[in-house]
Amino acid sequence: MKKEVRIHDKNFVEAISETEIRERIMELGIEISRFYAGKDPILLSVLNGAFLFTADLSRILEFDPEIYFIRVSSYGGGMSSSGNVKQITGLIENVSGKDVLIIEDIVDTGHTLDWLRKMLAEKRAASVKMATLLFKEECFHYADRPEFIGFNIPDRFVVGYGLDYNQRGRHLPSIYELKKD
Ligand code: PRP
Repeated sequence: MKKEVRIHDKNFVEAISETEIRERIMELGIEISRFYAGKDPILLSVLNGAFLFTADLSRILEFDPEIYFIRVSSYGGGMSSSGNVKQITGLIENVSGKDVLIIEDIVDTGHTLDWLRKMLAEKRAASVKMATLLFKEECFHYADRPEFIGFNIPDRFVVGYGLDYNQRGRHLPSIYELKKD
């Protein structure tokens, strides 16, 4: 029996277990560490959803990155992406000439990733890459995919491990998807 949770008015069933997440993040950490060998990248974590992924990934990287946070908004409180991305808050140090690795919990349409890439390019970052735990490939609207992907997932609403449904469910240690009736 798969684990189930109820959040607000909806039922969710476990889709990616805690163990699967941990093992995949270990692999990603090794891949990212090799990619940036000899460099000094900064991590830019996108709040709120990426807080757990950032914490777990950063602890297995083989380098000591500066870590910053940014808050952008695209979903509002609903269950689908609006495409209207805006920065809410976030301290970004001078990124000019720096390699920047954006950390996301999920890439859906790619509007947020595209907005971040443009914003960081304007600030003259030396390079901009993204590590995302989840990627909804079939929803993605752009040519440049995230460079480091934990799991490709179908177009289903997911919660847990940082992701929310109307601000609940973020603390769950695994990923759950909306249960079909
Ligand atoms: C989610 C996610 C990404 C964005 C992805 O954030 O963390 O930032 O949506 O969607 P996109 O590829 O369609 O742009 P959300 O706005 O839900 O905020 P949250 O992380 O605070 O929950």
